[in-house]
Amino acid sequence: MSKVIGGLFTSHVPAIGNAIARGLQDEPYWKPFFDGFEPVHEFLAREQPDVAVVFYNDHGLNFFLDKMPTFAIGAAPQYRHEDEGWGIGFDRPIPGHVDLSWHIIEQVVGADFDPVTCQSMVIDHAVAVPFELAWPGTSAFPVKLIPIAINTVQHPLPSPRRCFELGRAVGRALVSWPGDEKIVVMGTGGLSHQLEGARAGHINVEYDRFCLRNLAPDPEALLQHSSLDIVELAGSQGVEIINWIAARGALMGSVRELASNYHVPISNTAAATVLLENSAVVHA
Ligand code: DHB
Ligand code: FE
Repeated sequence: MSKVIGGLFTSHVPAIGNAIARGLQDEPYWKPFFDGFEPVHEFLAREQPDVAVVFYNDHGLNFFLDKMPTFAIGAAPQYRHEDEGWGIGFDRPIPGHVDLSWHIIEQVVGADFDPVTCQSMVIDHAVAVPFELAWPGTSAFPVKLIPIAINTVQHPLPSPRRCFELGRAVGRALVSWPGDEKIVVMGTGGLSHQLEGARAGHINVEYDRFCLRNLAPDPEALLQHSSLDIVELAGSQGVEIINWIAARGALMGSVRELASNYHVPISNTAAATVLLENSAVVHA
């Protein structure tokens, strides 16, 4: 039977990708962030997941402002990183898992969600950077990818509650999958940051700490704010936390925090990494 082993939550700042490409992980600016991945590497080496279901936001690569799905799910045989302007040199394609993608799509549509289904899809820094962080230096990624893109860019944005419920529907789909894969769920983006306008550089340590504190034991606490509240609290890109909220929703049963790291700033962003272990769930 398949098993959801846990959740990996991380910022996806493109500068991290450039730091990896230039081997700067031990520089004083970067070390406190990269050190947060040691327990992640131990966990992944021990658990050896086969599949990564990644909740993230597309930054204008597949979808621009003229056509913006609220939710989109990849069902492609392979996903290429097509750098959208940050100069990140990663070129390893990530294999897909078409059958599991369609199982998830069928289940979430059955749960009254209406995702765009993408039989061809490219990925940007919001998937490529977390993959390079999780599996550094491998010649081929050891997991198959199922990308789930959430609109955090073009208003109106989905509510945190809706994202959590999408995650729940995905989580139910994962435990009802009859395969024997080990699955890791990922949520990328955040924490607080704003890249443009009068509040460029905005960071809210208090709100970030609130999210980090509650993510494992009480994720519903994060649903008290609307997406617009979060824009105000955490910045116009800090609202990427809704990707984390969706990913947390996909972890059914009980959850235990294995590691948490918070480091301000990387580029314009309050960077964070959280690793959650998911207890065994009785399969449907
Ligand atoms: C930065 C952060 C992001 O989440 C992003 O998508 C692009 C840039 C930054 O802090 O530089
Ligand atoms: Fe981003």
